Amino acid sequence: MNIITIDGPSGAGKSTITRLVAARLGLRYLDTGAMYRAATLHCMKAGIRLDDPKAVAGAIKTLKLDVELVPDGPVKVRIGGQDVTDKIRTPEVTRNIHHVADVMEVRDWLVKMQREIGQQGDLVTEGRDQGTLVFPHADLKVYLFASPEVRARRRFNELKQRGMETSFDEVLKDVSHRDHLDMSREHGGLRKALDAVELDTSNLTPDEVAEAIVKLAKSRLSAKTRKIDKSKLGLDKPKA
Ligand code: C5P
Repeated sequence: MNIITIDGPSGAGKSTITRLVAARLGLRYLDTGAMYRAATLHCMKAGIRLDDPKAVAGAIKTLKLDVELVPDGPVKVRIGGQDVTDKIRTPEVTRNIHHVADVMEVRDWLVKMQREIGQQGDLVTEGRDQGTLVFPHADLKVYLFASPEVRARRRFNELKQRGMETSFDEVLKDVSHRDHLDMSREHGGLRKALDAVELDTSNLTPDEVAEAIVKLAKSRLSAKTRKIDKSKLGLDKPKA
C-alpha cells in the first residue's frame, strides 16, 4: 500500500494541498480533522460536559461514524446515517474540538479507523499525527508549516470573504492558541516526524507546494517499485 502523510498546524494549507496532491497522483484523500470534528459534534449533541474526559469517552461509544472518501472533494462525514459534512465546520465545533481530541479513548478509536482506511488502498492523509503515530511506515511524510502571522492572514482573509466580522489580532491570537493546544497534546500531538520533509508554505502558492510534493512522491514510489522488483528477481538474496 502507498501512504503519504501530510501533517502541520492549522492554516498551513494542508487541506487544499493534500487534495491537489491526491488528485494529481490519483490517490484517495483522507482529512482526519473531519473525524475529530464529527466526534466533537456528536458529544455536543449528546449534551454532556465536554471538559469531562470520562463523559466524552462514554459518549464516543455511541458514535456511529461513517467516513466517505470523495475523489477531488472534501471527505463526507455521516453520523448515524445523517450527513454532517457542513455542520462540523462551525466556529463552535472548532472551539470545542480540543476537549474531545485530548481524550485517549477517542484517539485510539479514530486512529484504528484511520489505519483501516489505509489498509483499503493507496492514500494521502492529512492531520497532526499521521506521520508520527498513525502511519509511522508511510512512504512519504510531509510537514507543512508557515509563520503564525501568515497563517492568521490567510484565515483572516477567508473569514472576511465569508462576511465575518473580526480583527487580524483576534485571529492571530486564535491561531496561536490552537497551535499551543495541538502541540501540547501528550498523545497524538502535533510534531514533525524525524523522517518528514519540511515545507514552508509562507511564500508559495498551494499549486507550487503540491507540485513539490508530487515530485517527491513520484521519486519515492518509483524507488519503492524498483526495490520490490529487485527482490522479486531474487537479486537481494545472499549468495549461498
Ligand atoms: O484539520 P482541522 O483543523 O480540521 O482539525 C481540527 C482539530 O482536530 C485540530 O485542531 C486538532 O485538535 C484535531 N485533530 C487531531 N488529530 C488529527 C487531526 C485533527 O487531534 N489527526
